Amino acid sequence: NHEEIVVIEGDGIGREVVPAAVEVLDAVGDFEFVAADAGDAVKAETGEALPQATYDAVADADATLFGAAGETAADVILPLRTAVGSFVNVRPARAYPGVEAVQPETDLVFLRENTEGVYAGHEDRLSEDLSTLTRVVTTSAAERLAAFACEFVADRGSDGFQVVHKANVMRETDGRFRDAVVDVADANGVDTEEVLMDAFATRVCLDPTQFDVVVCPNLAGDVLSDLAAGLVGGLGLLPSANIGPDNALFEPVHGTAPDIAGEGVANPSAAILSAAMLLDHLGYGAAADAVRDAVESVLSSGPRTPDLGGDARTDAVTDAVIDRLA
Ligand code: NAI
Ligand code: MG
Repeated sequence: NHEEIVVIEGDGIGREVVPAAVEVLDAVGDFEFVAADAGDAVKAETGEALPQATYDAVADADATLFGAAGETAADVILPLRTAVGSFVNVRPARAYPGVEAVQPETDLVFLRENTEGVYAGHEDRLSEDLSTLTRVVTTSAAERLAAFACEFVADRGSDGFQVVHKANVMRETDGRFRDAVVDVADANGVDTEEVLMDAFATRVCLDPTQFDVVVCPNLAGDVLSDLAAGLVGGLGLLPSANIGPDNALFEPVHGTAPDIAGEGVANPSAAILSAAMLLDHLGYGAAADAVRDAVESVLSSGPRTPDLGGDARTDAVTDAVIDRLA
């Protein structure tokens, strides 16, 4: 009666950081891991970046842990978000004591709309000179995101959340998003502050402590969370969760890191912290906290991978995390 966790390493450093995260999960729980393929390598072999068997396994699983896919990333991750019915991508960005960061006080969480906006897949080449993109925004998706955000801020002990948008220009689409999100927050007695997305980019760089929980449209959340990664010490630190009504997929924010793939020096922290989010989702809150504490301890005292200025290898960092599990 063990939970079934589908494990997709994917390409590049996905093959290095996902096994590290699985080792940590194995150290804290009793799970059944089911390996599945997706990405450039399986496409080269079979012609398909996302085999139907992988899609079905993810759709039927209790949860999925995914690494990264290379050039085929969009062909893999967008359908997998659909497979778990994900309507929100949760991306915490926090700085850790001992890790050099542009903004060491950063501690915020992006709640990114996960199915719509410019990533809805309506892009066309109309002529030699002209391509267009249709941006999709529904009230229902924005309301579902906002309802999640209201619960999220209550759990986090926050007063409210910020809504990032550009409704001053995209009045119809971002206007609809903003109105729906603010209406749900108002109905739940949750405070909101509206921040235009360009202004957000500047403000978060200058003083990230102004922000706590940030609700944003799909593209804005993608870009601004990578920006926040830059504030806290790099992509090797940011986990994420794609949450659906009764299924979820967890993945580091980073990609396949072709510049370091195969060298065994990728930072496993983002993948291990994604596994901690998976533990939370499955109801193992104490184990999740223990994993986060162990990662934090290793980040603060080392060993550290080269992206954080250290010279440790992925497996040394993983072993240290497992050693420090309470
Ligand atoms: P990337 O995140 O793979 O790498 C950006 C930079 O951050 C590189 O210098 C890399 O070495 C570094 N980095 C990333 N993760 C790291 C880690 N765990 N430890 C140490 N350093 C780390 O982004 P990039 O270079 O834009 O994309 C590379 C490939 O990944 C592309 O083919 C892209 O399509 C794919 N990608 C896939 C994603 C996914 O599957 N969800 C997400 C983002 C990119
Ligand atoms: Mg991204």
